[in-house]
Amino acid sequence: LLRFYTPADKPKSFFDLFRIESVHDYVESIESLEIDLDLLAAATTVHSDYEFIENYLSTLIRKASRVVFLGVYDFSKEVYFVNRFSDKEFVVGDVSASAIQSLEQRYKNIRVIESTFEEFKPENGDLVVINIAEYFMSKCQMLRFIEKGGEVVLNNAHIYRPSFSKFVGAFLRESRALVVNLMSLGGLRQQWQFRGWWRTESEYLSLARSAGKSVKTIKTNPKRTFGHQNHSASAAMVHIGLSD
Ligand SMILES: C[S@@+](CC[C@H](N)C(=O)[O-])C[C@H]1O[C@@H](n2cnc3c(N)ncnc32)[C@H](O)[C@@H]1O
Repeated sequence: LLRFYTPADKPKSFFDLFRIESVHDYVESIESLEIDLDLLAAATTVHSDYEFIENYLSTLIRKASRVVFLGVYDFSKEVYFVNRFSDKEFVVGDVSASAIQSLEQRYKNIRVIESTFEEFKPENGDLVVINIAEYFMSKCQMLRFIEKGGEVVLNNAHIYRPSFSKFVGAFLRESRALVVNLMSLGGLRQQWQFRGWWRTESEYLSLARSAGKSVKTIKTNPKRTFGHQNHSASAAMVHIGLSD
């Protein structure tokens, strides 16, 4: 498990820079978001974030009794699957439902919920899918999340290969964040914000085992990576499901 930081979007108190406040931050951002229902209804090609798993995910969707997309933000990436599988039941959620609420008027097969990953209550046979949102969850939160529903797909999850240089790099970045954020107290530097966690494949294997499930597939997105050069992670689909 590695922590990662990026420059802060807005000034925060010193201790808040080392805490994940994704719910609070995104509620604010989503309240000023407007979605265009006509544009969403016109999505007939798969978004590039899902292109590499289109067939795989479509098979899971066909088998699921209900499909749940959480942390969807403007829903522009997932809507293709709702347009394509118009006879399937979908649940669409985020930490604020203000932007996506209107989806229920346009789509008979969508139920909108306002829910964090922790609050979400699954039903038997649910396929739960999130895209680029797994990194907010601590180890405990991730374990509780993958226990939910039948099948769980973490798409474009941040996955790194452990190595000595990654370990040293992570230590240096922690130290830099501390120093930079101390300097920012005097208004000398832009602050750095702790954003979330990168995980290894073996961490997912162990989390799945602890949840009484198993990792069915890990597939790397050939068109996306996170970080840069010496400090990079793959974007991968991690499918965790009920053990056979
Ligand atoms: C990086 S954005 C990704 C949005 C969208 N899935 C995409 O790929 O464009 C992270 C999303 O996760 C949601 N989110 C953040 N923290 C969350 C939490 N604790 N529970 C549920 N959703 C959360 C945010 O509201 C946001 O929509």
